[in-house]
Amino acid sequence: MSNANEKRQAGEAAIRYVEDGAIIGVGTGSTVAFFIDALADLKDRIQGAVSSSEQSTAHLKRLGIPVLDLNATGSLSLYIDGADECDPHKRLIKGGGAALTREKIVAEASDKFVCIIDSSKRVDLLGKFPLPIEVIPMARSLIGREIVKRGGNPVWRDGVVTDNGNWIIDVHGWQIADPVALENDLNQVPGVVAVGLFARRAADVVLVGDKVM
Ligand code: A5P
Repeated sequence: MSNANEKRQAGEAAIRYVEDGAIIGVGTGSTVAFFIDALADLKDRIQGAVSSSEQSTAHLKRLGIPVLDLNATGSLSLYIDGADECDPHKRLIKGGGAALTREKIVAEASDKFVCIIDSSKRVDLLGKFPLPIEVIPMARSLIGREIVKRGGNPVWRDGVVTDNGNWIIDVHGWQIADPVALENDLNQVPGVVAVGLFARRAADVVLVGDKVM
């Protein structure tokens, strides 16, 4: 079961990675919401944030933290985000909040990815949490068939439209022994926008509550 107290501890502990004058990549979710609240206290010491979702953008703006365009900032020194699962190699499943594509872009653009989680997110093997995949709507059935060929059970997240205007398929039933290979494989299927596996670019640091994993 997720633990709100550990999420708050993790969000607040991530502040120690924020350096004066930096532009911070900001993820999405309830754990990141605690980070954004804490970041507001430092808003006069940073240049601003690059956001991974409309939800985080609204939160940042509400607290007076400038939201910057990744095309204008160039690469970032730090990205802070949550996860739905984290294995011992700091490889992640993300996308429970449907923000995976922009999260992946900002993570890729960042030198250091600090992932903030509560202990319920730790697993030995990724895949108990259904793997989110963002897809171009017209490719939903095609991609579903490709997933079935690979032994997964695709479930369309009906009614959810991503910030990019796309749809989400959640894949149940995969025990993901080689997440890098699966990520690379799925990325080749036409119509896949992003796979919620962060294995090729895993986290650099994981905070479980206020403890470094
Ligand atoms: C958003 O799409 C996800 O990748 C989130 O990072 C993930 O769902 C973590 O969310 P919580 O911090 O709310 O558990």
